[in-house]
Amino acid sequence: MNTTVRTGPMPDQSVAELLTEVRGYAEPDPPALSLPPQMFTSPEVYELERERIFQRSWIMVAHTDQLVAAGDYVALSIAGEPVAITRGEDGRLHGMSPVCRHRAMPLVEPGEGTVKDFTCSYHLWRYNLDGSLRAATYMRDNPDFEPATCRLPGFAVREWHGLIFVNLDAEARSFEPDLAIVDTEMTNYRLDDMVQVNHWTEEWGCNWKVAVENGYENYHAIGLHPETVRPLMTGGIDMTVHLDSPWVARLLSAAGTPFETPNLPLTEAERSIMYSYRMFPCGAVATFGESIAWISIIPLSLDRTQVRGGTLVPRQALEHVSREVMRKEVESITSVINAEDQAGMEAVQRTLHSRFIERGHLSTKEPGVLAFYRQLALALTSEV
Ligand code: FES
Ligand SMILES: [Fe+2]
Repeated sequence: MNTTVRTGPMPDQSVAELLTEVRGYAEPDPPALSLPPQMFTSPEVYELERERIFQRSWIMVAHTDQLVAAGDYVALSIAGEPVAITRGEDGRLHGMSPVCRHRAMPLVEPGEGTVKDFTCSYHLWRYNLDGSLRAATYMRDNPDFEPATCRLPGFAVREWHGLIFVNLDAEARSFEPDLAIVDTEMTNYRLDDMVQVNHWTEEWGCNWKVAVENGYENYHAIGLHPETVRPLMTGGIDMTVHLDSPWVARLLSAAGTPFETPNLPLTEAERSIMYSYRMFPCGAVATFGESIAWISIIPLSLDRTQVRGGTLVPRQALEHVSREVMRKEVESITSVINAEDQAGMEAVQRTLHSRFIERGHLSTKEPGVLAFYRQLALALTSEV
């Protein structure tokens, strides 16, 4: 095993040198070391990630409960690229670039809501919910302008058990085959029949990988979450990791005592496991007894990250408690845990430019981190 660690100030490394080091994580015997620090701070690496990862990966962005009726939309930025997803008049989901084809005015700001159409605030061109042009004012006299061919560029959108994914590559192949084993493992969770009781969007001041790698390990529960997450991990912080495809890592943690799950037909074995599925690059679904959290960690820039997420519960769980009461209860927990992670991630980010920082040794409690690095290595070096 390669455990050589540089000492002293790190010299600047070229992207090619960095990728050579990162490629080591895709080898059968990867180094038990953290990423080269410049992987988190290099603008060139970020550009490469935009091109090789975010322009062609499936990104989890919302739950279908946020896009129920025609005109409902979710808008966000994926590594600097504006994206909108709508529920069309046809009942289908549409992904598109919400940037006016006239002179580049954004048609909608990041967020969510309900609209009849997208009307550009600059010169009032109007687009339908599927991205086609409905009307363009004072354009009839320009013979070169063809309204029928003017439309917002489309993105691929898919729904997987209520979770909505978008891919900036409109021709991207579907991801369902990669999730087949998750489908099987989650059958008894009846994801299709779950309802979302809360969802949230936060902005953290860190590189996206700082936040993602944190999600691949339980080790930090002892440091960042001693009073919130740690007491819930009755089976300890160990996990087993399965990397069945380059896109999906299954992280399984034992619950010390089986969960009570009155609204789900889980087996004794299933009630004794916390499942965490990490969908490269930045999506995740995690179980905790009957509730399921989804989270997606999406770069806004090199050192700003949007963290989106929601909590799902079985529909029957709301038969005896109002959604509002449930929402408040769930939010009181997730907001505290998120704040703990955010403070930790932003603190790490502040030190990443130190000249004395170097690759650190990983614990055996962090096999998931190496799984993420392997996924990253495969995605970044596939064309090198
Ligand atoms: S920029 Fe949108 S109508 Fe002119
Ligand atoms: Fe955490």
